[in-house]
Amino acid sequence: VSLRPYNTFGIDVKARLFARFRSVDELRALLALPEVQQAEKLILGGGSNLLFTQDFNGVVLKNEIAGLEVIAQDEDAGTALVRAGAGESWHGMVQYSLQQNLSGIENLSLIPGTVGAAPLQNIGAYGAELQDTFDHLEALEISTGRLRTFTREECGFGYRESVFKGPLKNQFIVTSVVLRLQRQHRLNISYGALRTTLADMGIESDPTPQDVSEAVIRIRRSKLPDPAQIGNAGSFFKNPELSQHRFDELKAQYPDLPGYPVPGGVKVPAAWLIEQCGWKGRRFGPHGVHENQALVLVNHGGAQGANIRDLAHEIIASVREKFGVELHPEVNIM
Ligand code: EPU
Repeated sequence: VSLRPYNTFGIDVKARLFARFRSVDELRALLALPEVQQAEKLILGGGSNLLFTQDFNGVVLKNEIAGLEVIAQDEDAGTALVRAGAGESWHGMVQYSLQQNLSGIENLSLIPGTVGAAPLQNIGAYGAELQDTFDHLEALEISTGRLRTFTREECGFGYRESVFKGPLKNQFIVTSVVLRLQRQHRLNISYGALRTTLADMGIESDPTPQDVSEAVIRIRRSKLPDPAQIGNAGSFFKNPELSQHRFDELKAQYPDLPGYPVPGGVKVPAAWLIEQCGWKGRRFGPHGVHENQALVLVNHGGAQGANIRDLAHEIIASVREKFGVELHPEVNIM
């Protein structure tokens, strides 16, 4: 089976076996098949955080568990719990929540991928992260077929991190996610570009959650390539964290270096470092670096995953050489 329709980079590799499941029961039935049990397994959501560099000699299981519902209301706290099946599109969950007049995830509008993939890397954008509204999730343990509930604490969220990328990697398959959202809107417009975009939209005060969502969509469309048009997986690297001391040293050398304080140090935009090394907008035949966001590697059509991986390594090496800073991929390289 060609995996090209199933990864947003649009890389044309093959999987030996491919199956989709629409319920926990279907998933259990698949996992009980001997050929599935023996094979290496890759659980696929939207394929928006993956780079395939070779054919996959195992079984790809595509999560298509659907369902969107408000499962509980807490009138006193002014909150509601919204549950989504792991196979729903993430942006679909954002839109559903806005339709229910619930806020909390509008800053995460238009992030590609599925609900089930969102907790794996604690998706984040424009001053918000999944963990801010996360209540719990259910996941199926591959070895036993049992469902287990994970609270926020048990998910071990960090910056683009969770226990499912760490100690529990490849052991659980997320089947549903429950978020706690707000009836009384508490919007987060601390991110500079969000405020200026709202102003451009003519909204000077009291934006609605829909306004914030619209502003986020405008910013994303202006900076990030639409995977339907140009293959990509969003930010290819994480933003590195430097010690305050190291940041001060670099800042003395490069006064324009941006930085955001985080507990224990300063986070610097990888995009800035990459742009300073001259990579922004560079094109090498079918692959290259996006012209509006240096953090995004792109497949203009027909690129091999290995070419993109090699480009990533060249970028890492040049940033290391110029700044002494180590970049780490955010995308899963298979
Ligand atoms: N910048 C450059 N050159 C560029 C782009 C950005 O120098 O080509 C510098 C500018 O100084 C800019 C700063 O980087 O102010 C931050 O840029 P931006 O707001 O675009 O955010 P980012 O740090 O590059 C992160 C996330 C994105 C998320 C945005 C917005 C990571 C790895 N990436 O990017 O997430 O949408 O913030 O919050 O943390 C993703 O994870 O796939 C993703 C797109």
